[in-house]
Amino acid sequence: MKDRETMNIAVFASHGGSDLQAIMDACRDGRIDARVSVVISNNRDAKALERARNAGIDACHISLRNYQTQEKHDESVLEILTRHHIDIIFLAGYLKKLGTAVLSRFENRIFNIHPSLLPKFGGLGMYGLRVHEAVLAAGERVTGITVHRVNEAYDEGGIIAQTCVEVLPADTPETLAARVLEREHSFIVEVLRDIIAV
Ligand code: GRF
Repeated sequence: MKDRETMNIAVFASHGGSDLQAIMDACRDGRIDARVSVVISNNRDAKALERARNAGIDACHISLRNYQTQEKHDESVLEILTRHHIDIIFLAGYLKKLGTAVLSRFENRIFNIHPSLLPKFGGLGMYGLRVHEAVLAAGERVTGITVHRVNEAYDEGGIIAQTCVEVLPADTPETLAARVLEREHSFIVEVLRDIIAV
């Protein structure tokens, strides 16, 4: 996407940020040739923001609740992205939708990671343990992870990469979630490295 200059990534995250941590670690030690320039969260208490601060990365809390309109909120998001010269946006556990202004400005440059083999077990309300509960309820023997482009619908943008994770007979939603998340930490680095190399 860019010649020689290091790419700037914005990561959006709502909670724990373990995927964010995997991205930051890989950027820091050179496995990903890019830098996380800013982390944005709708949740002021997100551990993701703390992880960013600990890494010396700008951490921004931006919530729609603090704006009169979605447009004003989007203006603030775009101002931050512009200030940091952001090239790509990665949604790593971000539970809000991006506004149309952000979607159009960064068309084809916004990616999301989802803990299932989309189009299975995606869409509105399919996040956290609910995904893994649904996988077990459906009797799936294999689940996985999807990285896809982001558009205006939840979990529906074009799929970039997927990997499988085995479902074990004794799995609970919690054990399955933990196994999928652990695999996410290496998969997110593999896929982001490829995205950046294009
Ligand atoms: C991950 O399972 C990711 O697939 C989903 O949200 C979760 C984020 O986990 N979109 P964490 O906050 O990075 O630990």
